[in-house]
Amino acid sequence: MKTMRMNLGNESYNIYIGYGISDEAEKLINLDRKVIILTDTGVPKEYSESILNKCKDGKIVTIQMGEGAKNLDTVSYILEQMLDFNMTRSDVLVACGGGMVGDIGCFCASLYMRGIDFYNFPTTLLSAVDSSIGGKCGVNFKSVKNTVGAFYQPKAVVIDPAFLKTLDKRQINEGLAEVIKMSLTSDGELFSFFENNDVGEGDYERIIYSALDIKRKVVEEDEKETGIRKILNFGHTLGHGIEATCDGALYHGECVALGMIPMCGAGVRDRLIKVLEKTGLPTKLSFDLDKALSLVVHDKKCRADKIDIVVVDEVGKGRIQTVKTAEFSEIVKKALI
Ligand SMILES: NC(=O)c1ccc[n+]([C@@H]2O[C@H](COP(=O)([O-])OP(=O)(O)OC[C@H]3O[C@@H](n4cnc5c(N)ncnc54)[C@H](O)[C@@H]3O)[C@@H](O)[C@H]2O)c1
Repeated sequence: MKTMRMNLGNESYNIYIGYGISDEAEKLINLDRKVIILTDTGVPKEYSESILNKCKDGKIVTIQMGEGAKNLDTVSYILEQMLDFNMTRSDVLVACGGGMVGDIGCFCASLYMRGIDFYNFPTTLLSAVDSSIGGKCGVNFKSVKNTVGAFYQPKAVVIDPAFLKTLDKRQINEGLAEVIKMSLTSDGELFSFFENNDVGEGDYERIIYSALDIKRKVVEEDEKETGIRKILNFGHTLGHGIEATCDGALYHGECVALGMIPMCGAGVRDRLIKVLEKTGLPTKLSFDLDKALSLVVHDKKCRADKIDIVVVDEVGKGRIQTVKTAEFSEIVKKALI
């Protein structure tokens, strides 16, 4: 097992990574209190049940799977379950699922009695390498993604790559897209690993550790995303536009893969495309580019007529650049058409 420390003063916490470590979860975290384990209908039950078996007084709460359930109605349902279970401020909510369960679970923990402890057991590669750490949580509101939420750090994160065995290849690949993203902006050696190897199950532990180490350093420097943390949004600006355009046909990570391509200098772009192709990620336009761009430009979260983009001219060295929204469209079109 590897242990990584997220250093955030009073809000610091450990991230545990290792095959089979969920079997000994009670040695890593305090389950000797009331515990709600939040999961969704798509996560194999055995995972939440294995955590429940370690609790003296636990209860599983299952919400509907899918992004559609990440809303305030579900928040209300979870809070009701917490209240009915007579949870106090010294009890804990455990998320056992992908980024959806993690985001909404963490948000509920932040709200209940002004904040109770939160542990995260990510069960998708995307959540293991990215969303499980960093403290951004929340839900979608009025069809705008992640508009209502908070910064609320977990008390610990337990990552058992054995939980990933039930994911299909496409889900694994979209998680790898996020790792490729982080390697391109921050870790040239990790990017070369993707270039020189066919990544398989035996590499998950190493890849998760490397990705989280990149994110950890960024979050430690800029917890509330006022500066350098924006580097993690590489590929996401256009990616979100593509996601909103393609009506579920492409996964989030696949949209990020496409969103990275125009944001790279020509030499880096060729290398990226090769890595994406061997990882089974899309590299070709299969969406309405104009519509995607117009969604980016009209995104409610855009600051006036300017937008912060992340550009990679050299592998391992991303930089944040503020451009006019019209300029952003030009950059994308020049690279893709
Ligand atoms: N907070 C952050 O920093 C951050 C960062 C990135 C993404 N996110 C959020 O994460 C969410 C996406 O996360 P995701 O990709 O993990 O999607 P997800 O949580 O919706 O999970 C995808 C699907 O996989 C199923 N699943 C989960 N674990 C499984 C397993 N081990 N075996 C089989 N099926 C399993 C789920 O039931 C679901 O149907 C989005 O809501 C996004 O906004 C948050």
